[in-house]
Amino acid sequence: MSLLDDIEPLKQAALSELTAAADLSALDQAKGAWLGPHGKFTALMKQLGGLPKEERPNAGKLINQNKTELEAALQQRRQDLELKAALPKEPTDFTLPGARRPLGKLHPLTQVVEDIVRSFRKIGFAVADGPEVESEYYCFDALNTPADHPARDVQDTFYLNGPDAQLLRTHTSSVQIRVMKKQPPPVRIIVPGRVYRRDTPDATHNPTFHQIEGLYVDKGVTVGDLKGTVEFVFRQLLGDETKIRFRPHYFSYTEPSFEIDFSNSLTKKMGKEWLEIAGCGMVHPQVFENVGYDPEVWTGWAFGFGIERIAMICYGINDIRLFYENDLRFLRQF
Ligand code: DAH
Repeated sequence: MSLLDDIEPLKQAALSELTAAADLSALDQAKGAWLGPHGKFTALMKQLGGLPKEERPNAGKLINQNKTELEAALQQRRQDLELKAALPKEPTDFTLPGARRPLGKLHPLTQVVEDIVRSFRKIGFAVADGPEVESEYYCFDALNTPADHPARDVQDTFYLNGPDAQLLRTHTSSVQIRVMKKQPPPVRIIVPGRVYRRDTPDATHNPTFHQIEGLYVDKGVTVGDLKGTVEFVFRQLLGDETKIRFRPHYFSYTEPSFEIDFSNSLTKKMGKEWLEIAGCGMVHPQVFENVGYDPEVWTGWAFGFGIERIAMICYGINDIRLFYENDLRFLRQF
């Protein structure tokens, strides 16, 4: 058997071993066994010297060609194994939530709403909601607001075109009626929601803003309950040292009616002893009549306040329009 006849079978054997290597260390071993200093293929080179002189160039060339082929196969196998090693061992579930830091956060108005809702939940209130496109009935009539009341003027309310006096609700009080018409007393709800009024935007006005409405109906409910509840919630929201004061006022759906002022370090910082924060009162007997509750049996209180106003006071924001511009430099501060 001549040296030339050995080349092809040796190469084939080397190729099959290299391509069969199951991992990188097996490949390194195979490389050493065939192409290393003491490798079986390397040994062929060493035999060149024993050939007759005229055969050497041909044999040398042939050996080199085959060696190049083996090295290419080795390189290819190395790449394949490296790729395999880099792949995850388990299949990847691309539907899993990412492990990244959350990219967004809640809008400051949403944060204030969540704070208020959390306080009311502690004392047994549930969240209710109703439509922003509302009828005159729920927004005004059922709330005992007469047809000639200025709030119903097109100057103040956005009316929609159409036959049935649809409008954009001017307050969340409409949801009081919707809830009471749907369920028998007792009622304990709060209603965060968007409202609309025909205002020209400036630092303290915007044609749409947000309110929170509260309604509590049961037997024997008093102004004392109202005051205690309001005080509890505003102390949670604005700090334990917050003082609350009721001033007589007028709303058509409550009697008596009050405006609520509060006083704490925030109002002092704004140079005021008291700041007005909400409207409230004892539910008017006529409103109970309108929803089918017997006013001789049931009593209740209601309140409503603007969320933007609270957020502006809490965070020291001086322009309401900042809430709606979605400027990240503003939003990231909360
Ligand atoms: N709806 C009133 C407003 O938009 C706020 C309000 C006052 C709500 C008294 C009430 C209430 O439920 O009893 O200004």
